Amino acid sequence: MKKLALLAIPAALALAFTTTTANAADGKAVYSDNCAKCHGDDGKGATKMGAKLGAKDYSDAAVQAALTDDQAFKSIKEGLKKDDKTLMKPSELADEDIKASIAYLRTLKK
Ligand code: HEC
Repeated sequence: MKKLALLAIPAALALAFTTTTANAADGKAVYSDNCAKCHGDDGKGATKMGAKLGAKDYSDAAVQAALTDDQAFKSIKEGLKKDDKTLMKPSELADEDIKASIAYLRTLKK
């Protein structure tokens, strides 16, 4: 019985690792489907919507540095407003997908 339990631990770890890897890979897909229309494929925000709403240039290291993952998560999850203008609607994405899209946005820093 004890031996079985010991065997179960690496199996659980392997499973957890696989799941994490899959999410990281999905970040790009989540971003392309849900974020790129405003933030652009390159994160520069140089799209029609991005320009209209004032999306920042996330390929800029300083812009990325000014933003924590927690802040990014909160803004995406709960939405972002400036005065009465809605910049981002509260996202219907799963928490894991939001995190994956932020991780992908981080890779767009030049
Ligand atoms: C309707 C257009 C639109 C969509 C879709 C959108 N955003 Fe945004 N987002 C904005 C605008 C506008 C801002 C405010 C200016 C800025 O920070 O770029 C913003 C802000 C942000 C911020 C900074 C938040 C803060 O607190 O400063 C992050 C990070 C972000 N968006 C990531 C994403 C991700 C990831 C997605 C997809 C899951 C997404 N956005 C979808 C328009 C959009």
